[in-house]
Amino acid sequence: MATPQPAIFNEMGRNQWYVHLSRTDGADLGHIKGVLRDAINAAAGHDINLCIGMGPTLLADLGGPAVGDFQPYETFVAGDGSGREAKGTQEELLLWYNGTDKDMIWELQFLARTELEGHMSVARETPTFIWRDSWDLTGFVDGTGNPEGHRQPEVALIADGDVGAGGSFSIAQRWIHDLKSFNAMSVEDQEKVFGRKKAPETAKLATLPATSHVAHVELREDGNHGSEGSPKRDEIARRSTPYAFHDGSLGLYFMGFCKAQAPLRERMDAMYNTDGSGIRDQLTDFSNPASGSFYFHPSVEDMNAMLA
Ligand code: HEM
Repeated sequence: MATPQPAIFNEMGRNQWYVHLSRTDGADLGHIKGVLRDAINAAAGHDINLCIGMGPTLLADLGGPAVGDFQPYETFVAGDGSGREAKGTQEELLLWYNGTDKDMIWELQFLARTELEGHMSVARETPTFIWRDSWDLTGFVDGTGNPEGHRQPEVALIADGDVGAGGSFSIAQRWIHDLKSFNAMSVEDQEKVFGRKKAPETAKLATLPATSHVAHVELREDGNHGSEGSPKRDEIARRSTPYAFHDGSLGLYFMGFCKAQAPLRERMDAMYNTDGSGIRDQLTDFSNPASGSFYFHPSVEDMNAMLA
């Protein structure tokens, strides 16, 4: 049975650090492999979770599994002329560290990126944190509708026997909230944006507005998304956390895993109503991503073979 990268499911520490990198001219794959081997060992030695994701080009060049339908992230543009968009900033490598000790997380990511210098450059990074009991900065609990822990491997991992078994696709985005506008609304109107009650409550609203977030992302087999009338389909496992920068920008670092990439794209298309046939998620009136990448997280066995 293929072994997933443990950090996909391990309990997250309260601190995270996301570092996205891409190769520079003359990059030596042998050197990159050595740094990644060292990074995995260093994280294990310090009880820090390290989850490694690869974009389509690096995965192929390292001889990774030829997983189907692995597309680079292209900007999602709203189909209603509103100008809203979820910007695509595909990179080749994601190092996602998390754990209890922020100092050690900083040290390990700094070591890895320094050793990669001359071969890969850092495109962007985001340190994040868990706020209260997994609240988003809008004041809503984030993660309520996640599949229960024991079901997460089933939704997030490629099944044994299939190409890339034990691996997972992810979407990583930095959403920027316009908290002033959001907080200017009544709590009732805020709840309509998500379709759930504000923290510490979490209950789904009895009447779900068609514009609500949940009506876009809680996919149901009968097509009545967000309703209870039929089973959920194509679920994902979310591990998102908030961030707040010194320049005042703040929001959610969205991290979601799935055994296929299409359900991640489908939700983005629905939220942005990219084909113009539906209704844009009202959440995008208050938050939009400044960056977005798709990655594949190979199993431990595939990773060992690639890094040998
Ligand atoms: C600013 C960005 C976002 C915020 C603040 C946000 C927040 C929330 C909140 C508060 C809920 C309801 C509680 C819960 O189940 O966690 C929720 C549900 C959910 N969101 Fe988001 N979300 C964001 C973006 C996204 C994106 C980009 C996706 C997928 C690509 C997504 C997928 C989901 C899913 C699958 C659910 C659960 C639906 C179910 O119950 O089955 N969200 N989100």
